[in-house]
Amino acid sequence: MRAATVVAVVVAVALGMVATPAEAGDNNRVFQPCADAKIQKGDGFTFGIAFSTRESFFFNQTQLSPCDRRLSLASGGNAQLALFRPKVDEISLLTVNTTSYPAVTNGGFMVAFAGRKYAARSLPTFVSNSSYTVTSFTLVLEFQKGTLQNLYWKRDGCASCSGKSDFVCLNKQECAIKTSNCKSANQGGSVDCSIGIQLAFSGTDKHYAVLNSWYEVSNLQQYSLYGLYSNLRDSLTGQYNKIF
Ligand SMILES: *[C@@H]1O[C@H](CO)[C@@H](O)[C@H](O)[C@H]1NC(C)=O
Ligand SMILES: *[C@@H]1O[C@H](CO)[C@@H](O)[C@H](O)[C@H]1NC(C)=O
Ligand SMILES: *[C@@H]1O[C@H](CO)[C@@H](O)[C@H](O)[C@H]1NC(C)=O
Repeated sequence: MRAATVVAVVVAVALGMVATPAEAGDNNRVFQPCADAKIQKGDGFTFGIAFSTRESFFFNQTQLSPCDRRLSLASGGNAQLALFRPKVDEISLLTVNTTSYPAVTNGGFMVAFAGRKYAARSLPTFVSNSSYTVTSFTLVLEFQKGTLQNLYWKRDGCASCSGKSDFVCLNKQECAIKTSNCKSANQGGSVDCSIGIQLAFSGTDKHYAVLNSWYEVSNLQQYSLYGLYSNLRDSLTGQYNKIF
């Protein structure tokens, strides 16, 4: 089954993007997020992020992969999907432009997922509601012998926004801004509340080579990656440059 048939709309994506012919050094022929891939360093790896309500990711009180037909993400009509194809073991910053695609955050939560037999999915993480919007995330993709085992959101306990008056710390876990400050909220806000997702890889590839980018990210101060992408920095972060 294809993910695009699962969710209502396919939205666009920015860096490290999708599925044209494989790039040089990319020997992974799997381009569907709902299929199993066995990767090595330097391959592209396709995964999806579904945006919807928290409940829509559960069936009979069990969280299922968005690839699973038992979830009514398609008929629910409120789900959005973003697809990414980053290079394995390269630190990447992904963005979803919520000014262009405000509906992305309608449901308020997102789940990262990939695989079919090995259907890995992250826990749903809060993105936005009428009060607060979280714009910065770190996602860890953990592989074992080249197969994705786990996807999880790494929190920094609000270290990155402590003392920054534009932010509030939600649940002692993540930094959020008031949704009324966002452009996409149609409330005269001035901040581009596009979502930035910093990726890290951990575990081993199919040749048992250790994926190291996790080590690098954990040693970087969170948000530091945004500084590497100057075009994004202007749009995503220039507006509250007190962070840097
Ligand atoms: C829901 O879960 C319960 C307990 O695990 C199980 O007994 C029941 O058969 C499940 N229902 C469906 C529709 O899968
Ligand atoms: C928005 O989300 C925050 C954090 O999860 C929660 O505390 C708050 O009650 C929510 N507000 C609304 C209007 O749903
Ligand atoms: C999002 O799209 C809007 C409108 O096209 C654009 O002005 C803005 O710079 C974009 N933001 C990012 C982070 O790319």
